[in-house]
Amino acid sequence: MVHNVSNPPTLGLKECIKDLLGERGFAYIAKAKELKAAGKDVISFGVGQPDIPTFDHIVEEGIKALKERFTGYTETQGIKELRAAIAEYLNERYGSDVQEDEVLVTIGTKGAAFLALAAYLKPGDEVIVPEPTYPVYSEAPKFIGAKPVYIPLKWEGEDRGFSLDIEEIEKAISSKTKALVVNNPHNPTGAIFKPAELDALMDLARRHNLVVFVDEIYDNFIYEESTFKSFMEFPDWRDYVIYLNGFSKTFSMTGWRVGYLVARSDVVRNLTKLAVNVWSCPPSMAQRAAIAALKGDWKPVRDMVNLFRERRDTMVAELRKVPGFEVWRSAGAFYVFPRVRRLLDSIGMNVEEFVDYLIDSKYVVTLPGTAFPDTAGKDYIRFSFCISKDKIIEGAKRIKDTVEDLLASRFKR
Ligand SMILES: Cc1ncc(COP(=O)(O)O)c(C=O)c1O
Repeated sequence: MVHNVSNPPTLGLKECIKDLLGERGFAYIAKAKELKAAGKDVISFGVGQPDIPTFDHIVEEGIKALKERFTGYTETQGIKELRAAIAEYLNERYGSDVQEDEVLVTIGTKGAAFLALAAYLKPGDEVIVPEPTYPVYSEAPKFIGAKPVYIPLKWEGEDRGFSLDIEEIEKAISSKTKALVVNNPHNPTGAIFKPAELDALMDLARRHNLVVFVDEIYDNFIYEESTFKSFMEFPDWRDYVIYLNGFSKTFSMTGWRVGYLVARSDVVRNLTKLAVNVWSCPPSMAQRAAIAALKGDWKPVRDMVNLFRERRDTMVAELRKVPGFEVWRSAGAFYVFPRVRRLLDSIGMNVEEFVDYLIDSKYVVTLPGTAFPDTAGKDYIRFSFCISKDKIIEGAKRIKDTVEDLLASRFKR
């Protein structure tokens, strides 16, 4: 390879791309793979995807589409039958009145999120992001030159978990604020925000004329009979909401890359113009599989969620045995997000050092709360329970042993 230009133009990337954070979850997954390849007995709580493979009837429809050579470009907006199936699903579930021309099928939910953020935010705009947050909601605005304004979730203790800090959110609204973000059920905390909190957020949007980017990708992972309210239930969603969801989690289809965005039809028309210039269309065979997912048997989804509920219970029970861990029983998604501040103070480590120590000494992979992506997560660790009950028990035991050793050696010093 020859490098013969002293200041090659290919290195002239925009500054803002250099400041982007990747998704640290992916780095930890790579680390787990590396250790496994080196023969280590790794237990990974890192990964945010169901460990159950895509259900058979969905795979079969994907294969059928391939065999029929349904492999060309489709409409940019997504095939009509899929858009109709998405609208019907939402309307049945949430009593909304979504029309098929208000749906845009995207490359993953992340694709929908990036498209929407890019379409609304201008350099200098502010977007209010409850923190911790799934990283696309901080990084896409940064890339565009907009500013994510982080408002930490409120920690209400082991019994009550996390809530939106509506007062602080309202205080943060300035003349530059263009939008709010809400992800519910929430990654990484596993919180399901109360209907009253969502009503208050929607009310802020109405009073201050703000767009609300709503990510409900975990809306089928709900463990408590109760409280989940979708933004699709607000009769005036068309005026404020850009709704984001997808197939990755509910149907264990992370690699198929199908998500969707719902917004009023004139917004969708404009976003489709952006989409055609970025990706032309979502994968054709995966769209056919997505129809089979929505229209087919939902029993495998229910079984998966029931299994995950049991795993959550195991995870919470086992982690509560670890000294210094305050563990709230998450209500949704597939994460537990224990508060470990007291432990970190006792052992004199920050959360990243502690997470690295667990990987290096016991091959247990977790994610530091700071992966989401700034400072609000510094007292927390994210555990995904997308692994078997036995592994959850074994992994938690290794952590407990490590913590007890660390505390004992500190006491001796
Ligand atoms: C809150 C949230 N939104 C979006 C995504 C991305 O989903 P997709 O695979 O549909 O792009 C994830 C994945 O972890 C997520 O946690």
